Parts: sequence; structure tokens; C-alpha cells
Amino acid sequence: MKTHTLLMPLDMHLHLRDGIMLENIAPLSAYSFSGALVMPNLVPPVTTKQNIIAYKKRILASVANDYFEVYMTLFYQNYSKEFLEDVEDEILAVKLYPAGITTNSKEGVKSFDIEAMRPTLEAMSELNIPLCVHGESHGFVMDRETEFMSIYEQLAENFPNLKIIMEHITTKEAVQMLERYENLYATITLHHLLLTLDDVVGGKMQPHLFCKPIAKRPQDREALLQVALNAHPKVMFGSDSAPHPQHEKESSGCAAGIFTAPIAIQMLCELFDKFDALENLQDFISDNAQRIYGICPEFKEVRLSNTPFTIPKIYNTVVPMYANETIGWSIDDIS
Ligand code: NCD
Ligand code: ZN
Repeated sequence: MKTHTLLMPLDMHLHLRDGIMLENIAPLSAYSFSGALVMPNLVPPVTTKQNIIAYKKRILASVANDYFEVYMTLFYQNYSKEFLEDVEDEILAVKLYPAGITTNSKEGVKSFDIEAMRPTLEAMSELNIPLCVHGESHGFVMDRETEFMSIYEQLAENFPNLKIIMEHITTKEAVQMLERYENLYATITLHHLLLTLDDVVGGKMQPHLFCKPIAKRPQDREALLQVALNAHPKVMFGSDSAPHPQHEKESSGCAAGIFTAPIAIQMLCELFDKFDALENLQDFISDNAQRIYGICPEFKEVRLSNTPFTIPKIYNTVVPMYANETIGWSIDDIS
């Protein structure tokens, strides 16, 4: 039997929702992760200090039994420096969505007018608040991320002291951007390391593999695997685990989002083991994020072994990726 231990795993892109969904879902992350960067795309989005504090309180109340560091994000809008100074202690980052590009993003940025955004982004640079970006244009679905590269270039060039995180990258073009600008970083999901578009729509359509950005071509997945398996120092794990109730996924208008939070650590172990890269998983799942964000979660040790684990068919109302399939690694215990 093979075993592997991970220390302080972090999920640097997580959707926890609110209300009953939050209560059902948050404990699943808190069980195995040390902490997570929580996305602000609620309805309405998290845009005020009061909402950040209240939402964090609700999250902590729902994970009462486990130690879990909750890193909050503010939904990007144009903000004054005074406002950002007032909220900076409550947040780890600001998350930018193009308006209408994904679930609950309609209050996002309508046009990328750098001059209109300059006061906010300059204030963020000065205050050292990272900018997390959902980088997709409104173009053809397979080209959306690549089309967004010119916006990343503008942001990186105009705000050289701003840490910019390209969230859930899916293309080789985005991987290449990491080398071009010192201030660009990226998160990569589990599902984009496993899937291509073929898995989503190549056979019977798979609603539980449908997300934004959509999984791309084999060569894109290959480029993502290269940097993840080597734990490129600018790359972090962010699950983008995005729960939707089963009826909203298995429907004629399937909601975008893949639910992976409770299986991510086990599947990453399996994947890194398969490529003989288990020794790099610690950097990918925690140490890079600690360094990039300057965070230091409390000690948590997750011990795994290559013992088969059958993924549940459903967690409360949410169907996970690979429901009912058996994977090769499982969590033995956590302390
Ligand atoms: C996310 C969600 O459901 O909140 N959906 C998704 O497909 N990834 C939003 C997002 O991160 O795009
Ligand atoms: Zn997301």
C-alpha cells in the first residue's frame, strides 16, 4: 500500500453559496482543507464590508466542527481607495467577473475600460490586494479565454505592482502568459486537469462536467498538466467547486459548475501518483498559495493511501463529478 501526507491543503477558488446550500456544502471542504478563498458571486454579490463580515460569520457557523480558514473576496466593482482601506483587513483578494459571463456575474464589469478601472486597481496595488480574474470574453465559447489574453496583458502592463491571478485557466495560451509577466499567477482546477471538451459533449452530454470556462482541447489539458504536476511556482490549486442542486444541473438549461470539493484531494493524489509527481503535490495544493498570498493557515495533516474510494452518488442535493465511480486514493485520517 502506498501512502501520502499533505499538510494544510488550500483551495484557492471555492464557491460556498449561502443558506441551506452553504450549511450542507461548507463542512465538506472544512473536513479536508485547511482553508479556502471563497468567491463572492452571491445574489446580490458581496460588495460591502457589512456583507463580507456577515457572510464570513455564516460560513464559520456552518463549519463549526472543523478548523477552516475562511479567506474572503470582494466582488469587483469600481471602488474608492477609502473604501478599500476600510475593507482590506476583511479580505484576501478582489474577484473580477466580466458581466454575465458565468453564474451570478451580471453585476460584473461591463467593459474593460482600463482608465475607468485605474483608480481602483491603483489603490489595490498600493494596498497590496491581489486581483483574481475570471478571464473570458463574450466570444465563441472555445476561444473566450484566449481572447481574454489581451486584457490580461493590459492589466499586467498597466499595474505592474498588482498581483493578478488568472483564475481556473484552461488553455495553453494562459499557461504561456505566466512566463511573460512577473505579476501574473494562476489557479488550476482538478477538472481541467482531467477533462477535455470530448468528455463533456463528445458522447452523451454530461451536465455534471459542464462548467465555465468549458474544458478545452487535449493540448490545452497537456499544458495545464505540465505546470500543475511540476508545481510551477506561480500556479496554485483552486477547485472552482461550484455546487448547484441536482435539478438545476439535470435540466434543459444546465447551470455551469462542477462540484469537486469532497473528492478533490483524493483525486489529485491519484492524478499526481499516476504521473509519478506526488512529491510536487504539496507545493501545488498549499505551499505555492501560502507564498503567493502570504498566508499561513493553522496546522492540519491529511493522510491518504491508495485504497479505493467510491464517490457518493450525491451529497445532499448536489451530484459530484464522477458520482458513483471508484477512484484509487482515499483519505485515511486527518489531524
Ligand atoms: C461558477 C458558479 O457556479 O458559481 N460556475 C462555474 O461554471 N465555474 C462560477 C465561475 O467560477 O465561473
Ligand atoms: Zn469559480
